[in-house]
Amino acid sequence: MSKLVIEQVFKVFGRKPKEGVRRLQGGAQRQELREGGTTAAVIDASFTVEPGEIFVVMGLSGSGKSTLLRMLNGLLEPTSGRVLFDGRDLTALSSKALRDMRSRQISMVFQHFALFPHRNVLENAAYGLEVQGRPREEREQRATEALALVGLAGWERSWPDELSGGMQQRVGLARALATEADVLLMDESFSALDPLIRRDMQDQLLELQQRLHKTIVFITHDLNEAMHLGDRIAVMRDGRIAQVGTAADILVAPADDYVASFVQDVDRSRVLTAGSIMAEPVTVTPACGPDVAMRALDTDDDAHAAFVVGPGGEPVGTVTEEQVSEALHGHHDGGHTMADLMATDLVTTGADTTLAGLLTPASRTTLPLAVVDETGRLTGVISTGALLAALGDPSGPAAAPDCGDSGATAKEVASA
Ligand SMILES: Nc1ncnc2c1ncn2[C@@H]1O[C@H](COP(=O)(O)OP(=O)(O)O)[C@@H](O)[C@H]1O
Ligand SMILES: [Mg+2]
Repeated sequence: MSKLVIEQVFKVFGRKPKEGVRRLQGGAQRQELREGGTTAAVIDASFTVEPGEIFVVMGLSGSGKSTLLRMLNGLLEPTSGRVLFDGRDLTALSSKALRDMRSRQISMVFQHFALFPHRNVLENAAYGLEVQGRPREEREQRATEALALVGLAGWERSWPDELSGGMQQRVGLARALATEADVLLMDESFSALDPLIRRDMQDQLLELQQRLHKTIVFITHDLNEAMHLGDRIAVMRDGRIAQVGTAADILVAPADDYVASFVQDVDRSRVLTAGSIMAEPVTVTPACGPDVAMRALDTDDDAHAAFVVGPGGEPVGTVTEEQVSEALHGHHDGGHTMADLMATDLVTTGADTTLAGLLTPASRTTLPLAVVDETGRLTGVISTGALLAALGDPSGPAAAPDCGDSGATAKEVASA
């Protein structure tokens, strides 16, 4: 079951919000409403957040991110639409049930984390537990553990003003973690930090997430942060969700011109991974003859080489189409199985390797790269051509042919 389900949610502020929703549903634009003193902060948002994922909501300032987030924990009620938390409709909960859920199941981390200046770090980290009414001993133990998780062991008795901005933000994170809420809502939590510290916090969050498997909704206006953190990303524009997808989805297939222009400057080599560009490999076994290998290669027009795989699915070598063809038609002394023909200087990589990380391995071989899983089994293939194409700009079609002075348009040439 999805952790959160957001169904056609609208939030309209100002005069006659319900009527605003009806007008939006009828095709009115955000700007038209604004002229009448009504703000459409969130317009027809629908998406799900799955348990254990980091779901990033990204958009420029004013695009409706914070409003959306506040509806996820019931701090704001949608003007229209539903939010389900663990399958329960938040609007149907009593205010007591809602408060209870907010204190136990959801934690929020804000941009400017307000630490209490006259409480030490431990007491600050334990605050959420105090709200829950937990006994002192449990509070201190869990807050101590949470502080250790965020790298602040030893700072328990310090005062907030003895901490750097980054460390204060970590106390905020520790406070959220100490409650053992399984959903964290983070609104621009790292936006006030210096770039290096910010990157550090992002990495630390990813590391924590590997251990804790929380469900995290993370808001940011920073595209690089979104791409770095998000398992999936929702791109918001003017109150609407323009696209939901993985970083690779958004880079490779932007939903519209807005998203495309938003992501055009992203360093693809650091976002796209081997897994996002790999193709299905053609495989043969070592004992295969050239006839079988040729038939296998014929099934895939794009494949000019096949991987030879062992009994566990592990790649042991490659054979090219030419080698197979030569063995098939050329004069040879028989006995040409794939094991005899194959080149064995394979270069393998994991699906998570970024394209930047593939460049060095790719430069060491003329063969396609083998993508393998944790058990060494072959899961995909990346040709040099595919790698170079992905590093270029795949959002546009292939460059139009140079038509010289003939005056022909690309379309005429293409249809000629
Ligand atoms: N309580 C409110 N009353 C009226 N307008 C609001 C309120 N909260 C937010 N807005 C407006 O809704 C729009 C979206 O705001 P917000 O959700 O804060 O965007 P973001 O977090 O993406 O910067 C903005 O135009 C903002 O002025
Ligand atoms: Mg905001």
